[in-house]
Amino acid sequence: MSKDTIAIACDHGAFSLKEHIVAYLTKNGYEILDLGVNNTESVDYPDYGYKMAQAIKAGTVSRGILMCGSGIGISIAANRFPEVRAALVHDVTCARLSREHNNANVIVFGGRMIGPDLCEECIDTFLNTEFEGGRHERRVGKLSNPPL
Ligand code: RB5
Repeated sequence: MSKDTIAIACDHGAFSLKEHIVAYLTKNGYEILDLGVNNTESVDYPDYGYKMAQAIKAGTVSRGILMCGSGIGISIAANRFPEVRAALVHDVTCARLSREHNNANVIVFGGRMIGPDLCEECIDTFLNTEFEGGRHERRVGKLSNPPL
């Protein structure tokens, strides 16, 4: 059985990490929707955070991976959409909690902050951990309905 399609996007600050992760996930049987960038030319991270958010909002994919230099700017961009729960992660524990407690649908990394091996471990955890539901259901529901 083929695995889910995972969307991936980054800015120039994480291009080489993205290339590594695309190869890793492809080797492990995932289909990839690569939303760019495709080189190290300087770009604006909101454009790539928004591309991911639009793919999630449209239902093209249910899960994605975002990266910029720190991971911060692209997280802020993606999380402007109520359909997105993007979690900036630096370790495996937070990758697990982002799924169990927050039902994160996007995992985010800083390409200048994390190495490829730890990034792989965090992604494996993110992709293979279920949302716990229960007491977290109501809280996560509120994330999609902010009192604007
Ligand atoms: C680009 O140099 C850098 O600002 C960007 O990748 C990111 O770290 C922003 O939050």
